[in-house]
Amino acid sequence: MAVTGLAARAPARGDLDPDDLVLEGPHTYRVHTRAYTDPAVFEAEMERIFSRTWVYIGHESEIPHPGDYKTAHIGRQPVIVSRGDGGEIHVLVNRCVHRGSVVCRSPRGTANYFRCPYHGWVYGKDGSLAGIAMREGDSGYSEHFAAPAGLMRVPSVATYRGLIFASFNPEVPSIEQHLGRAAFLIDNKIDQSPVGEIALRSDPYVVTYRGNWKFQAENIVDGYHFTFVHEGFIKLQERYGDSTGDFGVHRGRSMAEVRRIRARGVSWGCSQGHGLSAKPVDQIESLLDGRLGDYYRELLERHGPERLAWIAGSGAMSIFPNLGIIHHQIRVWRPLAPDLTEVTVYPYELRGAPDEINQGWLRSQERFYGPAGHGMPDDVEIFALNQQGLDASAVDWLILERGIDSERRDEVGDYEGLPSGETPQRAFWRRWKRLMAEG
Ligand code: FES
Ligand SMILES: [Fe+2]
Repeated sequence: MAVTGLAARAPARGDLDPDDLVLEGPHTYRVHTRAYTDPAVFEAEMERIFSRTWVYIGHESEIPHPGDYKTAHIGRQPVIVSRGDGGEIHVLVNRCVHRGSVVCRSPRGTANYFRCPYHGWVYGKDGSLAGIAMREGDSGYSEHFAAPAGLMRVPSVATYRGLIFASFNPEVPSIEQHLGRAAFLIDNKIDQSPVGEIALRSDPYVVTYRGNWKFQAENIVDGYHFTFVHEGFIKLQERYGDSTGDFGVHRGRSMAEVRRIRARGVSWGCSQGHGLSAKPVDQIESLLDGRLGDYYRELLERHGPERLAWIAGSGAMSIFPNLGIIHHQIRVWRPLAPDLTEVTVYPYELRGAPDEINQGWLRSQERFYGPAGHGMPDDVEIFALNQQGLDASAVDWLILERGIDSERRDEVGDYEGLPSGETPQRAFWRRWKRLMAEG
């Protein structure tokens, strides 16, 4: 496709044809500015993406016991995720059936029932209506009153390795079909635990940025930006290293070393829209002989040498549409408006792993991602700058063509590419386009 022909295909305002917003040719991949800025696109995304596919809403370790709950969002729909008496998980729309108030205001907790703060209607852990305040009497309800059953239940709920997903689509494909190749990387992350389980114990931290939600979905697997956006961090590493502790991640000690590390590995762009990147370990022998040899030998016994190379390596994931997993961290992004996004970061620990590992990861989270860290502020600043740049709407197209000629499509329809190519980002947009086109 000739680049000179793109301007002619720029969509008119008011139209919403995804074919005009994402253009793919043999050596060309372009996304239109409007895909990030147009309120009509945002509205369509809430319906066509967030109401149709699986959306990540929490982890089982956040609600381990009957009565435990957390609140979350599926796109713009607020939900309660609650653990029932039999251990089952209920996902309920957090909107009172009386006059619509939010029922549960806390991010998490434990309760035998949920009472609406407005007029006191009460719901059980499974959302069933358990009581109507002051129902009887002259000013109460008619004897013919048809009381609703309770809070609306989200029809599809599934878990994978403790990750909880839900969907408003009753016919959504299975979670295994949705995850596809991403399941391999999720397994690698979780199997870093000798017992194969992670736990979200620390409170999450939350950041809101003035930019579109898709910047975060793209960026968590963007191998291209690191040495530019995080240049200040690399310089600090060069100067101070881990002199205040061994933090476990971001090991490069100079720009050249960081570039070398980041040139290794592989990236995938999955047909389901997920972007993945991974670097297996070259020499597992050095791990077995190292300070944490006992830990790695246990993993070797359980998984064998080939899997251990992947498990002990690094990996990052953008699971379509709202979940990231990177560096012992689950990251969730929530679209609030075309130019406003909330990101919540949950550090996790590996059950059964030596304290040294879990403590080291937590310190590295604080150093790079936490409120006083270096990396997250860098990233959200660039997202806001990116959004500001797109206000220059006289320019139509963004270019996502890096590595396009070196990626290969496999038998399941996933693309494999080089680590700092834009293979993961193109996969995101392909799925985006398909869902948006379904109308
Ligand atoms: S809105 Fe919930 S009880 Fe009235
Ligand atoms: Fe970054």
